[in-house]
Amino acid sequence: MTDQALVDLAFSMLERSYVPYSHFPVGAALLCADGSVFTGCNIENAAYGPTLCAERAAVAKAVSEGRREFAAIAIAGKGADYCWPCGVCRQVLYEFAPELTVLVARGDGAFVKFPLKELLPHGFGPSSLN
Ligand code: THU
Repeated sequence: MTDQALVDLAFSMLERSYVPYSHFPVGAALLCADGSVFTGCNIENAAYGPTLCAERAAVAKAVSEGRREFAAIAIAGKGADYCWPCGVCRQVLYEFAPELTVLVARGDGAFVKFPLKELLPHGFGPSSLN
């Protein structure tokens, strides 16, 4: 799976986003260590707080299907800026994959690539409880 193919999958999820409040669709595609991919979209809620980000939707699908080892995630939005993962999503990704590669795309299709450890330095993870 190329970086571009993973980003394309994230973009393909924008049409599934449920965003009646923000009107800001986000798509995600999570590449697992075994080569499988789980996609996600943001799912908003009238009470606002229960809104689920696209990245966490993808993680929930992967983990509930038995995958816990992740290699990369692509995140796509339609904005002028790259669609950076929120802090909560950075933390959720860190739980399973501190070595994850994060591909972040913007509306014109351009994307940049960062290690999760750069987006969440000194993260709190499972080993922090030792
Ligand atoms: N959103 C995501 O799906 N992922 C992020 O990491 C940032 C924010 C969504 C949540 C909400 O539906 C919309 O973008 C605006 O915040």
